[in-house]
Amino acid sequence: MFEQLKAIPPDPILSIIADYNADTNPRKIDLGVGVYRDESGGTPILDCVIEAEKILLATQSSKSYLGPAGVAGFNSSMGKLIFGADCDVIQQGRLRTIQTPGGTAALRVAAELIKAGMPSAELWASDPTWSNHLALFPAAGMEMHSYPYFGVGTSSLRFDEMLESLRQREPGDAVLFHGCCHNPSGVSPDPGQWRIIADLAAERGFLPVVDLAYMGFERGAEEDTLAVRLFAEKCPELIVASSCSKIFAMYRERVGAISIVTGDAHKSAAAESVVHNLTRKSYSMPPAHGPAVIDIILSSEKLTAQWMNELDGMRNRINELRKTLAEKIAASGIQEDFSFLQHQSGMFSFLGLSAEQVHRLRDEFSIHTVSSSRINVASFNRSNMDYFVDALGRVLN
Ligand code: LMR
Repeated sequence: MFEQLKAIPPDPILSIIADYNADTNPRKIDLGVGVYRDESGGTPILDCVIEAEKILLATQSSKSYLGPAGVAGFNSSMGKLIFGADCDVIQQGRLRTIQTPGGTAALRVAAELIKAGMPSAELWASDPTWSNHLALFPAAGMEMHSYPYFGVGTSSLRFDEMLESLRQREPGDAVLFHGCCHNPSGVSPDPGQWRIIADLAAERGFLPVVDLAYMGFERGAEEDTLAVRLFAEKCPELIVASSCSKIFAMYRERVGAISIVTGDAHKSAAAESVVHNLTRKSYSMPPAHGPAVIDIILSSEKLTAQWMNELDGMRNRINELRKTLAEKIAASGIQEDFSFLQHQSGMFSFLGLSAEQVHRLRDEFSIHTVSSSRINVASFNRSNMDYFVDALGRVLN
């Protein structure tokens, strides 16, 4: 049987981790995978997580199965965090939040749930979108299309063209949005534009599916739930795939959740039962350690405040890096305009380089990133930024 298998090229984002580790150049920079890094280049465990892990170790008395919904307190706290503790969808029993192994599994479960409910549904995603969206929705049998989103020449949102495409969508269509910090472009709708999009979703009757992986990295933890809350307020149905990888820096622990809003409490209970049925057939039950830690944080006012503070610190540092990078590039004599870097948000921006220029960055300067020229701005620090700007100038000439 195995003679039939052909090797598949590694994932374009994850393969950079290995390429970077194998690179022996001491000046190497990893601008690839989306992880937050501090000034020393490390990805620290948040203090609130260290504190909560101590509490968990001291109090946990069993590793027995928890069942398909995982850590109940985590599900409830995440629902409140994302939708607001007093929101209508919670009061009306229309929201179900169920733990998944990372945001990726939440997206995959979302795709399978949509297929189960609307077998002919097709999905529209922004052009461009996270490369794994393009793999995982079709892997669940969904046909995918794109709507205009990012203007390469202007490095900004093609809002009018996006709306024009969304106006063509109808009941039975699913439309994927990045709730904040668009990956890979760093360009997101502003609050007024989100209102227009949510109104359109309600008017046209398509199903919004929100990928919420960077809540708190754009404007603030609560501010970055605006898109989700508007959809929840205006639309009868909604799916949110959230991740705790970045916002709690719990990457390898694989913590995420799928949140489902339906028209009434009975339909939501049925939708949850379908999720349990789907996940039983793949990973059976989600892992508990990471969600138990987050449950402890979100159940404690002190630890929640500490977490918000650490999240603000990550966002502010990235914004500082964006500003410094744009200023350094402008001061370096590079003719091209990179001022857009400081107006975008989250970890990612496109440099607008060709694949050949990206390969030159890697081969000549040990600067590793994806061939689309998406960079992880959080990887910069005081000791590597000048080296990067110099290398950028050389590949642009
Ligand atoms: C990224 O886009 O780099 C992150 O979301 C990590 C991943 O799994 O691709």
